[in-house]
This record gives sequence, C-alpha cells and structure tokens, in this order.
Amino acid sequence: MIRAVLTGTGSALPARRVSNAELAERVDTSDEWIVERTGIRFRHIAGEGETTATLARDAAAAALISAGLAPGDIDLLVLATATPDNTFPATATKVQAMLAIDDCVAFDVAAVCSGFLYAVQVADSMIRAGAHRRALVIGAETFSRILDWEDRTTCVLFGDGAGAIVLEARDSVADVNDPGARGVLATRLHADGRHNGLLFVDGGPSTTGTVGKLRMKGREVFRHAVVNLAAVMEEALHAAGLPTDAVDWVVPHQANARILDATARKLSLPSEKVVVTVDQHANTSAASVPLALDQAMRDGRIQPGHIVVLEAMGGGFTWGAAVIRV
Ligand code: COA
Repeated sequence: MIRAVLTGTGSALPARRVSNAELAERVDTSDEWIVERTGIRFRHIAGEGETTATLARDAAAAALISAGLAPGDIDLLVLATATPDNTFPATATKVQAMLAIDDCVAFDVAAVCSGFLYAVQVADSMIRAGAHRRALVIGAETFSRILDWEDRTTCVLFGDGAGAIVLEARDSVADVNDPGARGVLATRLHADGRHNGLLFVDGGPSTTGTVGKLRMKGREVFRHAVVNLAAVMEEALHAAGLPTDAVDWVVPHQANARILDATARKLSLPSEKVVVTVDQHANTSAASVPLALDQAMRDGRIQPGHIVVLEAMGGGFTWGAAVIRV
C-alpha cells in the first residue's frame, strides 16, 4: 500500500540565543521562576533580516539535503504558521520562491501550536489520495514579534524557529507490526472553538487592522492541555492499531516541561521516551514538533524503524497527534 514516508528532516534557529537572566533585565521575573514553572532556560529570537520565511527556507533546505532531493522534486509545500511574513501571500509561496521551486502546490495552515500536526494530516491525505508524491511540510514561527514584552506571564514562554520534514509516496507494508510498515500510520485532529478566548492574539486584518499581541490565560490552557493531549495520543495509537508500549519515542509540542511530564505520566510512558527541547528553545508554536524531531533524528536517538508519536495543542483550542514509523 502507498503511505507518506518520512525521508528527511531539517531545522533552523535564529542566531541570537537569549537566557532567562537576560529577560530578567527587561521584565520582573527570574531564572529560578521560569525554570521551576516551565523548564525553559533559553529561547532564540529572530534578528533583523530573519523572518518566518527565512527560517522556514533554511529548515526546508536542510530537510531536502537529508532526503537526498533537489527543490524541484517537491510538488507540495505546506507551511504551518501563526506568524506569517505578510497577511498575504501565503508564506509557503515565499519559501517556494526562495527555494527556486518553479511549480508546486503551496499554502499555509493556521492552527497555531498544533499547526504542524494539521499540516502533516493534510499532506498525508493528499499523498495517499495520489495527488502528490513529494511534500515539504514545515512549521515556522517568529512569535517574538507578537509578544507583549511588558507582560511577564507570556513573554518568557516563547521563542522563534523552524522545522521541516519531507514526506514521500512510497510502497509500505500493510501490517503495522511489520518493520516494513514505514510512513504515517495514523493521524487524529480536534478543535474546540469555545476556548478562543484563552489563548489568542488581540488584533488582525479584519478586526483591528493591526497585527496584535499574544494573550493567554496560562493556568486554564495547562489544565486542558494535559487531558486533550493524553486522549488524542491514545486515539491516534488506537487508529494505528498499536498499543502504547509499541511507542519508541514521543515528540511532543514543547510548551512546558510540566505539561510533558504530566502527559507522559497519564499514559504511563517512561520519561526516557519523551524528546525534550523546551529547555533550549522554549515554545516555538508550530515549529516545536519538527524542530524536536529533527534534533532527535540527527543525534541518533530516533532510528529507522522506530514508532514515533507526534502531538501538539494550541490556540483555538486545536490539538492533534500522528503516529509514524520512521
Ligand atoms: N516571573 C515571575 N512571576 C511570574 C511570572 C514570571 N514570568 N509570570 C507570572 N508570575 C507570577 C504571577 O503573577 C502569579 O503571581 P501572584 O500569585 O502574585 O498573582 C504567580 O507567578 C503564579 O502565576 P500563575 O499564572 O498561577 O502560575 P502557574 O503556576 O500557572 O504558571 C504558566 C504559569 C504560564 C507557566 C503555566 O500556567 C503554564 O505553563 N501554562 C500553560 C501555558 C502554555 O503552555 N501555553 C501554550 C500552549 S500552546
């Protein structure tokens, strides 16, 4: 059977790395408070000339190299972001132009922190439907540009970055228990718009005509995150026909170390199976899952044949999970 098989990963971070101590010079906070409540130690912040599109381009170029493909081989480019370079055109088309891909389908997906999971399901569906053969799926953000740098309850939590994967239509063994069953095995997505007001940006083209700043009721978000993430991971594993103990690695959305711990505990997953980068990158929204995935692939923790579960939750609320044999 044809599945969307992961053949490459890449990531990119802005040059400037900012410590908690540096932030404490700007707002009333401390390294101790941030580490204890979130696990975050550093975040990268985009400088002049660095945008969502340039970070996406660099991550995509690295993913193409790791897949052994040229830009012209790509026929689908899906970019998840909540911080596009412009209201339009889609940042995906800017990245397409930067990579010099003459013709492909290119569009953005807006589902905030779960945007990458939404993008994976879209690309997987388009590949399995036979419409496309080689997709770049990217998560890229510059949340530093929509943060209220006077608000200590939010500005310490986020960072900038990008991650990308290549998915290719390949013949794959039908039996999910067979190591030859490579590719995206199942995806599950959800949204509940009743929670719009708990995590949002207070501006936009059709309302204020401004970009706006991020606003969040952190405690409420935390409560929903653990319940929703554990449930959607179980759902995706069930859809794939795999038990929890078949999972080699979980690559979660990197929002907060306490959410990662609590979610793993709820599923009785040992913490050694959870990829953690939140300490180094903070919350990079749609970029966080592919960034963490790329790191764990490059340092050899995730090996060919491993079962990997990706999961994320974000503004909307939206949330989702994907089960992939790499
Ligand atoms: N530095 C120091 N103190 C801070 C602070 C900071 N950066 N931010 C908030 N505080 C203070 C608050 O003002 C509050 O003080 P008060 O008790 O005098 O009113 C106190 O710390 C506790 O705040 P609270 O919001 O209750 O803390 P918390 O334990 O819920 O932790 C978060 C706050 C944001 C870290 C936590 O709620 C969280 O991680 N939520 C999930 C957020 C998230 O991941 N969102 C993205 C999902 S995509």
